[in-house]
Amino acid sequence: MARKQDILKLFEKIEIDPSWAFADKTRKDTAYITHGYHRYPAKFIPQIVSRLVAKYTKEGDLVVDPFGGCGTTLVESKVMCRPSIGVDINPVAVLMTKAKTAPIKPLVLAPTFIELKYRLGSYGSQTKVETPDHERINYWFKPEQKRKLAFLSSEISKIKDRGARDFFYCGFSNILKNCSIWLQKSNKPTRDFEKKPADPFIVFSRQIKAMLRGNTDFYNLLQERGCIETFCKVYCTDARKIPAKSNSVSLIVTSPPYVTSYEYADLHQLTVLWFKYIKNLSDFRKRFIGTAYHSNKELVLNSEIAEATKKALLQKDKKTAEGVSTYFGEMNQVFEEMRRILKKGGRTAIVIGNTKLKGVEILNAEVFAGQLINLGFDVEKIIKREIPSKNLPSTRDPKTGRFAKTTDKNKILAYPTEYILIFKKI
Ligand SMILES: C[S@@+](CC[C@H](N)C(=O)[O-])C[C@H]1O[C@@H](n2cnc3c(N)ncnc32)[C@H](O)[C@@H]1O
Repeated sequence: MARKQDILKLFEKIEIDPSWAFADKTRKDTAYITHGYHRYPAKFIPQIVSRLVAKYTKEGDLVVDPFGGCGTTLVESKVMCRPSIGVDINPVAVLMTKAKTAPIKPLVLAPTFIELKYRLGSYGSQTKVETPDHERINYWFKPEQKRKLAFLSSEISKIKDRGARDFFYCGFSNILKNCSIWLQKSNKPTRDFEKKPADPFIVFSRQIKAMLRGNTDFYNLLQERGCIETFCKVYCTDARKIPAKSNSVSLIVTSPPYVTSYEYADLHQLTVLWFKYIKNLSDFRKRFIGTAYHSNKELVLNSEIAEATKKALLQKDKKTAEGVSTYFGEMNQVFEEMRRILKKGGRTAIVIGNTKLKGVEILNAEVFAGQLINLGFDVEKIIKREIPSKNLPSTRDPKTGRFAKTTDKNKILAYPTEYILIFKKI
């Protein structure tokens, strides 16, 4: 068992490496090719992934991301001709990843869009539209937007080519917030009765034009590098059941969810509702690691620091202590699965920051390092990087630990720095 003191000492020595901040990168750089298709909270920048992939793999090596999110790892692996597998429990993330990783011939996509726009032009008050009769859709959308969105979605469903259909559905998903009365500046599900929701056809057209440029750049880059056919697949499943053979993977690059931070299930409920991805929102929430809706299972924490954190939190708040303990137990299970799929000598690179809950330091990076060592990994390198302020995900409320608005002066910064834990399977 890795000792608490040894792990803490290991981290004390680590200094910030400025070359990993990518402070000179603009939004244009981080959203290049297909990366800007869809907003996604806490996504990492592609430059981190490409540097790791270049250093630890060669062409043809398999790369995996068990918490794939909107597909950053897979897109970067594809442009570097590395086959890749992504996993995410969130069907909305999987839709985005499919759209972002599938290069479509620009000469096929542009006419499909023209045809779609032509059909949208036929819409009028007399057009027969089957609008969804769902209490939550009525909660978020005004009748006019709801009707137009229903028409748009039904027209997209008629597109025969699967890749093109996913492309347009991804664009559709990204405009839903604008077209609803969801408070535009908020990541939390809050209604804004003053909001004037956008016209679905106008914002969709703008959205697709930008995506078409991204697809063309992606397609040309892949063609230039001979990577169009490079294998790339995403699965909607749990990170503890990765559909990859044992000892087959050269590199894992991932950024795990944080404990009780973003509730992805709530955040993406607009898309989930429109596409009828789930029946029950509360069951859906429970599938996410790091959710506030923790299970009561007694899991192995496999880390002295995790045990100490649980103990300290129990003095403050039992529910938070249980949530954090479940999180660390579940992450340990993910690391076991990572170990199974990695080749001997294969690396895992985990991007993670530390935080504070109920006044207790939550040393995610130190806990993960201890768990990985206990599971049979060696430390290859631990990088400490500054997160340039424009990329800061948010701030946390010091009392509750929940994400809050960056404008509030009383809130503390969430992750001014984070770590990249690079561990090798021995
Ligand atoms: C920090 S995000 C990853 C973002 C990603 N690096 C990107 O660039 O888009 C963490 C992801 O973990 C996913 N997740 C949470 N619980 C999961 C589970 N049990 N299995 C698989 N994925 C899960 C969430 O849906 C979320 O997409």
